[in-house]
Amino acid sequence: MRPSRLITAACILAIGTGLAGCDRLDPNSPLAQRRKVFREMTKTRERLLAFAKGKERFNAETALHDAQQLQALAQQPWQFFPEVMQADAVGHAKDSVWQEPEKFKRLAHALEDATGALATTAQERSLDTLKPAVFRVEKACSNCHEEFRQ
Ligand code: HEC
Repeated sequence: MRPSRLITAACILAIGTGLAGCDRLDPNSPLAQRRKVFREMTKTRERLLAFAKGKERFNAETALHDAQQLQALAQQPWQFFPEVMQADAVGHAKDSVWQEPEKFKRLAHALEDATGALATTAQERSLDTLKPAVFRVEKACSNCHEEFRQ
């Protein structure tokens, strides 16, 4: 059984007992708030990726808008990882987020740098220079997920 199925099963049980189920995460909890940002980042980068991969016709204005939005979003998830590990705020984060905080911060900064570079590059309105900047952001996402997300 995959972990997500286990979680769903736990939710169904939780509903019966009146506990807060997984789909009803407290929206103010750090877990819910950072997931919201991560999902917005995912959505915001979709069109940039489509441009970079030649799947959608390049639009410089849209690319600039999305790149700036992504840069702003990239600053936000980290505040929602509590300094000290809390059992109810682990989610799909690995324990290493709290065991190797310096490394985690380094990879968070790497994303901030990459999205900053993307937003600057997008001002040039050139697909050729945008492409590598988009792929650098993608790499910054996956570098951290490989180490810190389960
Ligand atoms: C410094 C580390 C780090 C970086 C960089 C990072 N992530 Fe994540 N991401 C995580 C961790 C840790 C989780 C698990 C969070 C949880 O379950 O609470 C996660 C979870 C997610 C999720 C799942 C959210 C959910 O609803 O469960 C998505 C989607 C996601 N990240 C997208 C991205 C995208 C897109 C980027 C790059 C633009 C990115 N992440 C960059 C660490 C990172």
